[in-house]
Amino acid sequence: MNNYLSRNVNKITTNILQRMRNESEKIAMLTAYDYSTARLLDMAKVDSILVGDSAANVMAGYKTTLPITLNEIIYHASSVVRGVERALVVVDLPFGTYQGNSKEALHSAIRIMKESGADAVKLEGGIEIVESVDRILSAGIPVMGHLGLTPQSINKFGTYTVRATDSKEAEKILKDAQILNAHGCFAIVLEKIPANFAKQVTETVTIPTIGIGAGPHVSGQVLVFHDMMGITQQFSPRFLRRYHNLGEEIIGAVEHYINDVKKCDFPNKKEQY
Ligand code: KIV
Repeated sequence: MNNYLSRNVNKITTNILQRMRNESEKIAMLTAYDYSTARLLDMAKVDSILVGDSAANVMAGYKTTLPITLNEIIYHASSVVRGVERALVVVDLPFGTYQGNSKEALHSAIRIMKESGADAVKLEGGIEIVESVDRILSAGIPVMGHLGLTPQSINKFGTYTVRATDSKEAEKILKDAQILNAHGCFAIVLEKIPANFAKQVTETVTIPTIGIGAGPHVSGQVLVFHDMMGITQQFSPRFLRRYHNLGEEIIGAVEHYINDVKKCDFPNKKEQY
């Protein structure tokens, strides 16, 4: 564990992620949406933090990621950035803030970078967004791609099932990955695609691939923090490993507190002035 290249790095950059990929060190990424959580993740030395539009689900309770606004993601991102010294902070461009045209995409990306202090942005899609990728990159903003299951397109696909199970879709994803690579994205998230196909995509590109539900043959992994910690309780796809049951622990602790208040056990003599 201590001999990992990233262990002795004070600030993770896109160049460090590329070196990790080249030297076969896996990249560990998690989502965060607030200062306190981001601080803990950074203290644990997670390589990268994604301020995902999954905030719409886990923070705001929406059914899809579509409703989150640019102002809301900037609020989350700036909170995260204040808690982070080391991890690379990547922020999702929300649905509707980049699909219109590349000028709109650049404007949204600049607002995120300027107002939050994040390190990079992430966009969903392949060939459709390549003009925006070019324009954002030309302003010096690193771009992460996102292929496979792209939750912002849920209304087009109608389901969150595994992607690239038919050859036509797989071909498009493979081609999109090559295009994003050629246009200068620094990494690509591969969401919910078969493991062997993720391996093929990873071997085709020269930049890191970060998988979620994409098996082990990728350059790194990303999970939604609230899912891996068991705070969200109904969501349990096959790819999700729960590292803790924090939801149950929180409920237990709150029940304990309520009980203490009701029976006048809290506050005690030492807990008052
Ligand atoms: O919004 C998000 O959390 C994401 C991850 C699932 C990759 O895009």
